[in-house]
Amino acid sequence: MRSSDSILKDLWDTWQRKGKVSAWFIAYLLSIIITAVVYWTGGTVTAYANLMYIPIAIMASTHGKWHGVIHGIISSLLIGPFMPLDRVLGISQKTINWIVRMLIYAVNAFVIGFFSDYYRHVYQERVKKEKEIAESKLAMIYSLVKLAESRDDSTGAHIERVAQICRLLATNLRKRKKYQDYIDADFIEKITQVSPLHDIGKVGIPDYILLKPGRLSEEEYEVMKEHTTIGAKTLQEVKEKFPNNRFLDMAIGITYFHHEKWDGTGYPFGLAEETIPLSARIMAIADVYDALRSKRVYKNAFSHAESVKIIQEESGKAFDPDIVEVFMDIHEEINEIYDRYSGNQERTLAHLGTGYLEGTGA
Ligand SMILES: [Fe+2]
Repeated sequence: MRSSDSILKDLWDTWQRKGKVSAWFIAYLLSIIITAVVYWTGGTVTAYANLMYIPIAIMASTHGKWHGVIHGIISSLLIGPFMPLDRVLGISQKTINWIVRMLIYAVNAFVIGFFSDYYRHVYQERVKKEKEIAESKLAMIYSLVKLAESRDDSTGAHIERVAQICRLLATNLRKRKKYQDYIDADFIEKITQVSPLHDIGKVGIPDYILLKPGRLSEEEYEVMKEHTTIGAKTLQEVKEKFPNNRFLDMAIGITYFHHEKWDGTGYPFGLAEETIPLSARIMAIADVYDALRSKRVYKNAFSHAESVKIIQEESGKAFDPDIVEVFMDIHEEINEIYDRYSGNQERTLAHLGTGYLEGTGA
């Protein structure tokens, strides 16, 4: 899973590779253009020679102090010994004049380049540290999730699949005007990272219920439902320790509400429609699709086509119709994700306890 820090790093690397080449080209092209402007406007007696500070600053700030100094010297030579002071009157520059200008350009480039190099280094160090922190955070999440999943899913494939399906759904939902103000790159990264936490409360469900190879009784199902509140309350306690962590807000929302249904018949609170957080509505579809495709202890998995049909039938009942529409648009890509990340699909899914699963023999 990629964090926002890794995106930042990728952008930085792309800038390093492509931006620097184009900045180098622009700087030298500008110097040539400015040389022509200085000549055609009558020589260095005009103020246009001062424009040369622009390409020098571009080169020094993007390529560092030494490239900047070299560029400064070349630029000063372009408007140096062969450039007249006043072309109309036929007056040449004094040698001392263009040599002093060369020194000023070189010093100017060195100073700009020095500070650019310094702050670039500071920035790179910061990105490196943030990457380390992000990786530690993900390692902690995976540890927690693996611990929870180890009781009924030894592969960890389910959490990887739902994370990728959530990412794909959120990315495509963002293309819709209605969601453009709400879903940004940060939202997509967060839902990818926190979606594996959705069933973390299963650690509090007894084995005889969690691992039961058959349909749960009424009482057992009530206990199973508690995995939502157990998980969310645990994360809320963590949130009290780290109140400024927005990452945890989405994790709590998903853990609490991923079994709520659009028509208000879900659990634990019976929330309906847009009172259910968007992240949980996305998670619900990803989770159920994955559950439908997965083999249960006592029955086979549904095919992709059967699972898609069930999801579509639940539009406006269990699921947000907008997200189902997006799901229908990209269901083939979701199928590819399922196949790519599938390991051992043996998993107890009784906790989903959804009528449409049972009704179709899942
Ligand atoms: Fe769940």
